Amino acid sequence: MLTMPYYMDVDPGVDDALALVVAKSHVEVKGVTAVAGNVELPKTFRNACKIMDLIDAPNIPVVAGSAEPLLASMHTAVDVHGDDGLGGYEREVDELGSRPTASVPGWVWLAAELEAAKSPSGIIASGPLTNIARLCLGFPHVLSQVRGLTIMGGSLSGGNVTSTAEFNFYADPDAAEVVLGRVSGIRLVGLDVTHQVLLSWDDLRRFRQFGQVGDALFRMLSSYAGHLRDLGYGDGIAIHDVLAVAAAHQPDFFMWEWMPLTVVRDGTLRGTLVAAPNAGDRSAVAVATGIRHDVFFSWFWEALEKYR
Ligand code: RIB
Ligand code: CA
Repeated sequence: MLTMPYYMDVDPGVDDALALVVAKSHVEVKGVTAVAGNVELPKTFRNACKIMDLIDAPNIPVVAGSAEPLLASMHTAVDVHGDDGLGGYEREVDELGSRPTASVPGWVWLAAELEAAKSPSGIIASGPLTNIARLCLGFPHVLSQVRGLTIMGGSLSGGNVTSTAEFNFYADPDAAEVVLGRVSGIRLVGLDVTHQVLLSWDDLRRFRQFGQVGDALFRMLSSYAGHLRDLGYGDGIAIHDVLAVAAAHQPDFFMWEWMPLTVVRDGTLRGTLVAAPNAGDRSAVAVATGIRHDVFFSWFWEALEKYR
């Protein structure tokens, strides 16, 4: 069966790194665009290159996108992912070496890719939605070539930046509002589900079985888990962005509810996701409300086995 290829828009970020590793095992990754989020763009771009090198994917393009939100002030998550964005994971990377890239911004490159493609692709977005919003605003005609946009973002059950706002939607609320209002067929995986699927510290030791990729992930995740513990999140280790890959590849792992959504763009509720039943012509979004834990974790560890 021909499987659909995916573009990934990421802000590595330790859980973005894990999402790239898992995605490469389960789907065809056609390209990666980096966006400012967990750390500034030069670091998210460099980190995306590092991870694609780590998983021996020299021919997958990595292209730098937006360096700042559409309108909002910049807000990073260095307290969770470390100043470098990958928990201090050191690796030499030749950002402008043999790897394909582009001299245009990531969303411009993605538009050209979609326009030239003979068949539709999926997009998995695991950072602030700035690049995706710029794609929608600048190149609306290419959205017909997107067969499913799966987003890690938002929350209807409490935030992780403020009491109500999740990081990706807080970091660029205007972009989230643009995307939720202009793209149909969105699958949204928010904290409502990602907080149901946590790795344990015992799970971390399991990564050491998977060769140099597993060792690198062990180092990144150990640092990330330490930061989460220090910040009062307890011992559970959220792997938010991996759930977006799972939702794109295996939507039947999840329980879904459909509703139009809007995002508060500023003030004390900046980035808060709101169900908007009277949102005019806004398309309903499939919101993940639950997950089948056993099948997800079988799928997750199966992806990592390929790096053994
Ligand atoms: O709220 C979790 C999200 O914010 C994840 O995508 C994580 O990488 C951070 O970007
Ligand atoms: Ca992310």
